[in-house]
Amino acid sequence: MAERQTQIFAIPKGRIQEELIPLMKKAGITPEEEFFDPNSRKLRFKTNLPDWEMIRVRSFDVATFVAFGAASIGVCGKDVLMEYDSQDIYTPIDLNIGLCRLSVAIENDYDDSKDTMLSHIRVATKYPTITRQHYEKKGIQAECVKLNGAMELAPSLGLCRHIVDLVSSGNTLKANNLKEVETITPISSYLVANRTALKTHLNQVNDIINRFKEQVIV
Ligand code: PRP
Repeated sequence: MAERQTQIFAIPKGRIQEELIPLMKKAGITPEEEFFDPNSRKLRFKTNLPDWEMIRVRSFDVATFVAFGAASIGVCGKDVLMEYDSQDIYTPIDLNIGLCRLSVAIENDYDDSKDTMLSHIRVATKYPTITRQHYEKKGIQAECVKLNGAMELAPSLGLCRHIVDLVSSGNTLKANNLKEVETITPISSYLVANRTALKTHLNQVNDIINRFKEQVIV
């Protein structure tokens, strides 16, 4: 029998973990205790499965690790998958967690009714590719200002009129005097796999996919 090499499972930092860790537990995958220690500087963790280790990285970096095969499996938001748009990432399961939407927002008192007549607009976003495509469909050229967070600040500071960002409860928009004017796409998180690993480590990768399939009601 071929030796079972250690495989890497990449999960994103942040809020999604509140939903993901219980789902992983149901699927029979639990990280070592140090994973839950906020003071630990460790980046790679053992799990209860002898041939799987976990890494916790920024959401866009999950896509990078999986696309390059540095991680065989990962969990990625649809926002990241659309923006990263890699042929090397296979997306077998919608986990139906991390539900939110990618939306356009503007300042509460800004009248955007004439914006559709514009041929050019500046937009602050973490998602320049999705944003450009979205405005292109309306015949508007979007000049995207890439920010990595806190883009809700951009309109009030004169950086742009529109922002494109994730909206969940809507509290961040409300707290920053912004309103949602258009939903680009609903978002959820997917179990993803590197396409080559799916062939070279079929049994190990399929084992994880099947564990999640059993937990997710389609
Ligand atoms: C996301 C997003 C918004 C906020 C929306 O940021 O970029 O800022 O959540 O959520 P709400 O509608 O429930 O207020 P997140 O907190 O994930 O941090 P980030 O800026 O580091 O991505």
